Amino acid sequence: MNANGLPQQLAEAEATVRTLQQELAETNRGLVALIMELESRVEERTADLHATQEELQRTNSELLQMTLELEDRVDQRTAELREANAHLQHELAERQRAEEALRRKDEELRTISQQLWQAAKLAPMGELAASIAHELNNPLATVSLRVESLLAQILEDDPKRRALTVIEQEVERMGNLVANLLQFGRRGQAQISSVDVREELENTLALIYYHLRNHRITMVQQFAPDVPMVQADCQQLRQVFLNLLTNASDAMTQGGTLTLGVTPGQLEPGVPAVIVTFTDTGIGIAPEDMPKVMEPFFTTKEEGKGTGLGLAICRRIVQEHHGTIEISSTVGQGTTICLTLPCTNDSNGTYLRERRL
Ligand SMILES: Nc1ncnc2c1ncn2[C@@H]1O[C@H](COP(=O)(O)OP(=O)(O)O)[C@@H](O)[C@H]1O
Ligand SMILES: [Mg+2]
Repeated sequence: MNANGLPQQLAEAEATVRTLQQELAETNRGLVALIMELESRVEERTADLHATQEELQRTNSELLQMTLELEDRVDQRTAELREANAHLQHELAERQRAEEALRRKDEELRTISQQLWQAAKLAPMGELAASIAHELNNPLATVSLRVESLLAQILEDDPKRRALTVIEQEVERMGNLVANLLQFGRRGQAQISSVDVREELENTLALIYYHLRNHRITMVQQFAPDVPMVQADCQQLRQVFLNLLTNASDAMTQGGTLTLGVTPGQLEPGVPAVIVTFTDTGIGIAPEDMPKVMEPFFTTKEEGKGTGLGLAICRRIVQEHHGTIEISSTVGQGTTICLTLPCTNDSNGTYLRERRL
């Protein structure tokens, strides 16, 4: 190693250091530049991320909005559907009601046409019966008078007396039949007035009191204390009561109990009525006879006992009073006839006349 070798070496070393420093500085700059670039890239990415996040938030809020709108619409549709459903239910109920009303009308119509048919069938029969009865009335009265005077002329022990008595009884029976036929065929203006049904029933009972007593029939009267008046023809009512009392008595040949009931009631909603019932403990009516008992000339009584006109007359009179007559019966136990007679406060019977068919 020489003397100036060291400084040279130093100088070289210095030069190397400088070079190294320069390189370092350059590297440093390069690094700084790199860092700065990196930073700017990071910033860019961060900005991108922000933008994406904002976008996401927007989309999210839009979605939320849409969801809310959808929910609203679903709610609205549900409400609409519910309303439509209620409407349908209502229409359905309405339709059911209409169908029910139609069915009732149909039934009513059927009843009315049946009644019309019945009336049409009865009218000529009634006229025929009335004209025959009319023709029979005078000769019967003559025969009756003659028999009566013959009976008055002969002695008590005359053998002809028995025959004459039989004739007298038979003539009387024919007279009753004729009277019934005349009543059956009777058409004409009814004498309508305010009638207390209880009073009329008592009056009729008085007529056949002895007959009932002789047949060992116990009478039970169940009359309500407050019964409205009915607008009726009292003669005709009496005829109805008499026919029903006679039938009850005929049904209790061995005696029994006849219960008469009079109570206030209704013919139909809003139409007050008086309900009259005749309950006997007689033989009853066979179910197969039930539809026929009110037909004219239907009778189950032995020859000469029944005319089969009693109930037909009752039905006609009750119908003319716009009432109803119903029969219920059990063979061997007894029969109940139930009359329902409408009534109003109107004392001159306008109601009845207006309701007249
Ligand atoms: N209360 C009753 N109990 C049993 N049967 C009855 C009663 N009322 C009516 N009937 C039956 O109805 C039939 C017809 O009665 P009705 O028209 O009064 O005619 P009649 O009394 O002349 O037979 C009677 O023959 C009888 O069979
Ligand atoms: Mg009778």
